[in-house]
Amino acid sequence: MANVTVIGAQWGDEGKGKIVDWLAARADVVVRFQGGHNAGHTLVVGDTTYKLSLLPSGIVTGTLSLVGNGVVLDPWALRDEMTRLKAQGVSITAANFGVADNCPLILPLHRDLDGLREAAAGKGKIGTTGRGIGPAYEDKVGRRAIRVCDLAHLDALEPQLDRLCAHHDALRAGFGEPPVDREKLIAELKEIAPFVLEFAQPVWKRLRDVKKEGAKILFEGAQGVLLDVDHGTYPFVTSSNTVSGTVASGSGLGPNSAGFVLGIVKAYTTRVGSGPFPTELEDEVGQRLGEKGHEFGTVTARKRRCGWFDAVLVRQSCAISGVTGIALTKLDVLDGFETIKICTGYKLRGEVIDYLPSHAADQAAVEPIYEEIEGWSDTTAGARSWAELPAQAIKYIRRIEELIDCPVASVSTSPERDDTILVRDPFAD
Ligand code: GDP
Ligand code: IMO
Ligand code: MG
Repeated sequence: MANVTVIGAQWGDEGKGKIVDWLAARADVVVRFQGGHNAGHTLVVGDTTYKLSLLPSGIVTGTLSLVGNGVVLDPWALRDEMTRLKAQGVSITAANFGVADNCPLILPLHRDLDGLREAAAGKGKIGTTGRGIGPAYEDKVGRRAIRVCDLAHLDALEPQLDRLCAHHDALRAGFGEPPVDREKLIAELKEIAPFVLEFAQPVWKRLRDVKKEGAKILFEGAQGVLLDVDHGTYPFVTSSNTVSGTVASGSGLGPNSAGFVLGIVKAYTTRVGSGPFPTELEDEVGQRLGEKGHEFGTVTARKRRCGWFDAVLVRQSCAISGVTGIALTKLDVLDGFETIKICTGYKLRGEVIDYLPSHAADQAAVEPIYEEIEGWSDTTAGARSWAELPAQAIKYIRRIEELIDCPVASVSTSPERDDTILVRDPFAD
């Protein structure tokens, strides 16, 4: 297996960025295949912290970084992010970065609609990142998207704009908003086009070529399986498929290209935005997890909801995504807890079940069944070998493996790149 696919196995923010950065040194290409700049991936290298939303995390190590067609691309956000990263000394050129020319664009009208819908939903809001992700994916499947390749043909855009604006003007009217300002939109597209076109290419073809040369490809998932539009806690999900299977359609490299599927799993659970969360702790324990884990969103700075590790959810995510092994992250955040709880099953209206049901009302009604294990007082922070871990921490990891029915491939013990215990090298498989 020359390739590795990294996906989040919970509700996002599991530490994918750190793990992708760590693996990127051994990869020839890093590819994003779904989502957009709703992602917030944090990399800590020495004294420097990098926050990436749209750029693949491989860009920091200088690894060839590609944005696949499955991503929805906001060209203005891309330019801002590039400016920020370049100011941190990261080199980004047409030689080490490319975007698929068949990527749909996120336009200002998508951001507008995201905001209008969330505001109108009141308490029922999804709690989106407000980046226009959902509306952009809707336009893609509605066959009215403007794509990267259209930027080279702006003079022929009128019929597409007719379709797009007919749809959006009707929606906007429903919210009491004025129609789309077409002249302004065209001017904005004309201004950004040269910047995007410098990086535009058929990414599927680039990947085919590097694959022929024996390249090791690292796929970087965004969000997590529980935010998947089919398999997640619908409707409180994102608008893309976040599972490993999306690698094939979102990059154009075929279903056998995923290789080792590495599920990133936080040693406890967090969620940002609305929706069911069976093990959520709204007490001082949850508060303590949030403070120790610095659980604030990378993209929106929102406070993340925190709770105990939910083995039911992770077992389900691993099965749905065909996870080969997991990278367990943020183990150090559990240092010093006297006892630690693990959710091993649910009770739904008196009946014991071992999976998350599909209906939102059932998902909200399940009650976690916990087992409690003794914590550890020694620190795991910064550990780089199994021998540095307290016996109880090892017991916790082994119990997780058993409950989720999937082996641990690595353990992360701090935000820093090298504070990682390697159990099984995904690229060596
Ligand atoms: P991503 O979206 O999955 O890439 O995760 P985020 O970057 O949004 O959130 C993970 C946060 O945890 C970041 O601030 C990381 O620097 C940090 N982090 C990653 N791994 C560890 C770890 O093992 N221990 C601690 N304490 N922090 C970690
Ligand atoms: P990374 O890649 C955590 C959540 C939002 C909201 C829902 C829908 O950093 O793990 P959207 O803007 O996608 O329409 O919002 O999905 N969400 C994330 N939560 N991490 C992410 O990305 C997320 N991307 C979206 O909070 O609940
Ligand atoms: Mg994140």
